[in-house]
Amino acid sequence: MVIPAPASMTVHDGWRDLTDPTVSTDRSIAAEGYSLEIDAAGIRIASSDEAGAFYARQTLLQLTADGRVPYVSISDQPRFAYRGAMLDVARHFFGVEDVKRYIDDIALLKFNYLHLHLTDDQGWRIRIDSWPELTAAGATTEIGGRGGGFYSKQQYCEIVDYAAERFITVVPEIDMPGHTNAASVAYPRLSDTPVVPYEGIEVGFSSLAIRSETTYQFVDDVVREVAAMTPGPYLHLGGDESLSTTDDDFLYFIARATAIAAKYGKTLIGWHEMGRSTELPVGTIGQYWSFTTPQEGAAEHTLSFVQQGGQIIMSPADVAYLDQKYDALTELGLEWAGPTSIPESYEWDPATIVPGVGEEQLLGVEAPMWTETLADIQDVEYLAFPRIASIAEIAWSPAGPRDFAEFESRLDRFVTLLDTLRIKHYVGFPGKN
Ligand code: ACM
Repeated sequence: MVIPAPASMTVHDGWRDLTDPTVSTDRSIAAEGYSLEIDAAGIRIASSDEAGAFYARQTLLQLTADGRVPYVSISDQPRFAYRGAMLDVARHFFGVEDVKRYIDDIALLKFNYLHLHLTDDQGWRIRIDSWPELTAAGATTEIGGRGGGFYSKQQYCEIVDYAAERFITVVPEIDMPGHTNAASVAYPRLSDTPVVPYEGIEVGFSSLAIRSETTYQFVDDVVREVAAMTPGPYLHLGGDESLSTTDDDFLYFIARATAIAAKYGKTLIGWHEMGRSTELPVGTIGQYWSFTTPQEGAAEHTLSFVQQGGQIIMSPADVAYLDQKYDALTELGLEWAGPTSIPESYEWDPATIVPGVGEEQLLGVEAPMWTETLADIQDVEYLAFPRIASIAEIAWSPAGPRDFAEFESRLDRFVTLLDTLRIKHYVGFPGKN
């Protein structure tokens, strides 16, 4: 009935009208967990924190049909502390209202982190006062030539606050040393080679000037300003696909840039390639984006974060990348890791992919949405929904054999809620054609 499936749920005979729940505090309940009791006497929520009470209300919303709710006893808590969704606002820019909409969308499924991919070759999307050309010159491009855009500091804080009201913490990503063409368009001295504005979809061609002190002043200023706008604990420094940076330069850069960034008090996150470095600040988090069968080097680089005291966020591209097509006929989306059907997005476990990275080593799971082919938020919703429900369940619900047929009956109901809320979604899953 509910997605993600609660840790424990018993349905009793009977239904009642939906009325305001009574909410109480119970310190014995785990962080973000809750109990929800519905019977003839009323609707009762208990939790130890406000997030738990919020999640209980999300469950209640899913249980409601025609203003009625079934009698149930639910005792629930998340499997992982980090349940993330990522939105790439660099390849195509998405304004504040679009991002708020996506925040509302993911809040339905008890996600608690929104990772914003704020910078890439095609655009720089966040105002940095000490380097104003980043947005004055680096934000005017995007894929398709529609003019780009960026967030003022005030707008960015509006997003952060809106997310926080829904118990979602924003994780800003400033990707480096690759994926930096837009920064170098704004400040050509950040690159060793001449650059021009870029609105295509290739990756791996850009790099910062690794041996230039200007680059490290840039890293320091940007991280200082972004960290100051970040109440949450994490700051993502990218590190992926630095294909035009030599090995020596990459290792030199990562050691210096992460040491600079760590001064500003945030726990750093890097895509798994950052684990090529053995000089990461203690506790740096790795984000795995290879396949469910790890490709060359990916497992070793991921394990390196664990060996340096960090945990791992799992985003295997062939099952968790929401920008991949659902099937060969899907018009939107890329295909290099897909197509990924809804059953494929559901039937995997994050604790069994990288040897040495089991339950204890995992901080959580994240569903990235890259936007090369997605020009508006309805396109984003279409590729996200309902597939993102699979990732929500993997991140929240207890591990165990996953029965897609059972999930599908709950998904059917969830899709009715999406229709009510006018959230655009794919309809081609089994039973829906
Ligand atoms: C990635 O997909 N380059 C993280």
